[in-house]
Amino acid sequence: MKRILIYSVLVAAFSTIPVFAAEDPIATRKAIMKNVGAAAKAGGAMVKGEAEFNAVTAELALRVMNAASLGVGELFPKGSETGGKTTASPKLWEDRAGFDKAMAKFQTDTAAGIASKPADLAAFKVAFGTATANCGACHKAYRVKKE
Ligand code: HEC
Repeated sequence: MKRILIYSVLVAAFSTIPVFAAEDPIATRKAIMKNVGAAAKAGGAMVKGEAEFNAVTAELALRVMNAASLGVGELFPKGSETGGKTTASPKLWEDRAGFDKAMAKFQTDTAAGIASKPADLAAFKVAFGTATANCGACHKAYRVKKE
């Protein structure tokens, strides 16, 4: 039941994206990142032993991250530096190449994780650890905590 709920939240978040992506890139990228956060939470629960390992959940968590990495970088156009409670750092626009590179690495690492088809917790820990190392690295460089 809990697993079904996670799936439907992930699917629902993605299906709403095209509707408001063009008019509100800040809200859209935040929604996508929230979704990535949900995927990290689902994966993290298994890694921490709070949830039983499940290969479908493991793959889905990596796929949600990878799907986000393919498009979310486009949602930081010039003019979206402020407003909408964004926590993106001005550095993102000053060092666009660095940000794009960090996003490309996130893409590569999550794709490699999916390709490794983690079938048990030990394998998933490796794939998940590699994928989620990107979160903090990018946030530290290109995001400012405002809460
Ligand atoms: C290449 C850069 C990059 C990577 C990699 C990345 N993020 Fe983010 N993330 C951002 C930026 C930039 C923001 C701020 C967006 C905004 O507020 O406009 C953000 C915001 C967030 C938010 C807040 C969303 C909200 O509601 O405002 C969460 C949660 C989040 N990221 C989770 C993650 C997790 C979990 C991962 C790794 C699995 C990850 N991110 C990987 C750049 C990244």
